[in-house]
Amino acid sequence: MPEQIPLNDGAAIPQLGLGVWQVDQAITAQVVRWGIEAGYRLIDTAEGYQNEEGVGEAIRTAGVPRGELFITSKLRNGAHQPDAARKAFDETMKKLGIEQLDLFLIHWPVPSQDKYVEAWKTLVELKQAGRIRSIGVSNFNQDHLERIISETGVTPVVNQIELHPRFQQRGIREFHARHSIHTESWSPLGSGRLLSDPTITSIARKHGKSVAQTIIRWHLQQGLIVIPKSIHQDRIAANFDVFDFELDAQDLALIRGMDSAAGRVGSDPATASFSF
Ligand SMILES: NC(=O)c1ccc[n+]([C@@H]2O[C@H](COP(=O)([O-])OP(=O)(O)OC[C@H]3O[C@@H](n4cnc5c(N)ncnc54)[C@H](OP(=O)(O)O)[C@@H]3O)[C@@H](O)[C@H]2O)c1
Repeated sequence: MPEQIPLNDGAAIPQLGLGVWQVDQAITAQVVRWGIEAGYRLIDTAEGYQNEEGVGEAIRTAGVPRGELFITSKLRNGAHQPDAARKAFDETMKKLGIEQLDLFLIHWPVPSQDKYVEAWKTLVELKQAGRIRSIGVSNFNQDHLERIISETGVTPVVNQIELHPRFQQRGIREFHARHSIHTESWSPLGSGRLLSDPTITSIARKHGKSVAQTIIRWHLQQGLIVIPKSIHQDRIAANFDVFDFELDAQDLALIRGMDSAAGRVGSDPATASFSF
């Protein structure tokens, strides 16, 4: 079973969860129920994924007490201004159908609109009002983190960023460690692009595990929180079956060598400005 990672506000998050970006609303409840059946307790959604209602349906129908589940959602880029942020949060909660959210993140900083400090202040208020247990951010660079911390005195519990063997983000991970921020890896399989990588394929073969399992195991051994996505029941279960083997020093050194400044598969947080 995944470890519970203690957060800097006293809460704890399961280290391995199920991501649901690009999961169609029509199948989301089923996909999340398969995840819960396989043992996942952390579910990662966002307003922008347009499937929070499906996540809510799964929460109500999966047969696991609400208190055992850890639900993350995210504030969309067009709603950083305080009134818009409060309204967006209310909509998210209505769609999820729950009383309190476990973790709410600012999805992207969008430096060009320069409203992420206001958004962070609103998340702080919502936490103080008891509507969210923990607050964090996503896609924040070091300068964005420094700014929200210095202007509010509140440090996010996590920063969810693109992270996988080809884009290991060592610099910001060191900053996170110095500030008790946990790193959460999005697109942990490189959005599927790493699944035919020859280096990881050979490591996977050595351990008798799949490439996806090997990559997920790497994230866990790095102390990262990791949220792979799949819409297939067998893959969802296999991606959770990663607690019976260990990568050795040689494997870790080979994967460390895969890191590349050009390895990014998603958008650059310094310039991303979509309204999502
Ligand atoms: N905060 C952000 O800005 C942000 C951005 C991107 C993602 N995220 C979060 O991170 C989660 C994961 O990222 P992601 O969805 O981009 O990609 P990912 O988890 O790195 O990879 C998902 C891809 O790999 C395939 N896959 C998964 N397990 C597999 C397996 N065992 N065998 C073969 N193929 C497999 C999936 O296909 P099938 O579904 O067809 O199995 C899908 O194409 C998202 O769902 C979301 O929650 C956050």
